[in-house]
Amino acid sequence: MEPHRKELLILRLLKEARDGYLSGESISHRLGISRTAVWKHIQAIRKAGYHIESSPKKGYRLNPDFQPFNAYEIKGLLETELVGRTLHFHDSVDSTNTVATALAKDGAQEGTAVVADSQKGGRGRLGRRWYSPEGVNLYTSIILRPDLPPQEAHKLTFLAGVAVAEAVEEWCPVRVELKWPNDILVEGRKLGGILTELSSEADRINFIVVGIGLNVNMDTRGLPEDVESIATSLKEVCGKELSRVHVVAGLYSSLEKWYKRFLEEGFEGVLKRWKDYFGFEGRRIVVKGREIVEGVCMGVDGDGALVVALPSGVSRKVMAGDLEIAG
Ligand code: BTN
Repeated sequence: MEPHRKELLILRLLKEARDGYLSGESISHRLGISRTAVWKHIQAIRKAGYHIESSPKKGYRLNPDFQPFNAYEIKGLLETELVGRTLHFHDSVDSTNTVATALAKDGAQEGTAVVADSQKGGRGRLGRRWYSPEGVNLYTSIILRPDLPPQEAHKLTFLAGVAVAEAVEEWCPVRVELKWPNDILVEGRKLGGILTELSSEADRINFIVVGIGLNVNMDTRGLPEDVESIATSLKEVCGKELSRVHVVAGLYSSLEKWYKRFLEEGFEGVLKRWKDYFGFEGRRIVVKGREIVEGVCMGVDGDGALVVALPSGVSRKVMAGDLEIAG
């Protein structure tokens, strides 16, 4: 739940209070409201997830160790010019990609982002579900409007992968691996995924929705078997909980940096960086898509297609599918 206008003003005063405490009287004076009204607003702020201590002598103090996950806190940390500047925060949605698509169809500007605390119908690639419990992870979708032909839309998936990988390595010293085309792995387990969806004319993209799911503070032990057996979270790989507010803000900065670089310099730099995180080259793989392709992974070509050397020695390019280590 999001704090309202008066509550936001009180929150700002509490955050600015130099010695921590702020008396009810001083708040009532500065906002021109009664002490009872102050108390009611404090209750509402607490209900929104903030921890406010009160002392009869000193007044109210905001405990900075508890940072609720909401639009106000995210906006307070954003350092971007584009990504997340317009932010739609929801406690629960069907899918942030669906919400972002509707906003984009309504003309939402580039960079508009949707964040949800939970998803009831979180979607993964190839019609899979994306496990999206409340209170622990990040589910976000960003609207981009690059001037590109539709067949180049997948480049944004590579770009998002690089942005996530670099951001994660800022937060904790782990080795992130990107699995073609859209998986974010640590120690072979899935930390996150990217679902890029687009609306286009025959020759031009109208908009792209880049959906990112990142497991942040989720404990994977005891989860449904299909999730527990393959997933991990930042908490598990970093050995500590992370503030989701910092995670969103950092991720948006990283995404903006790579998006600008892509627009200015093209795909080459993105792909080069992506290859640093791709650990499948030289390994025997199986790619399951429209057909099953098995062979040695030769990397990706300049357009992001996977190149597989077949046992016959012939090279095959694969544009879509699921990559697995053979055997
Ligand atoms: C995958 O690995 O298959 C992609 C998973 C993408 C999940 C994210 S969570 C935010 C956004 N909303 C969705 O419904 N899906 C993406």
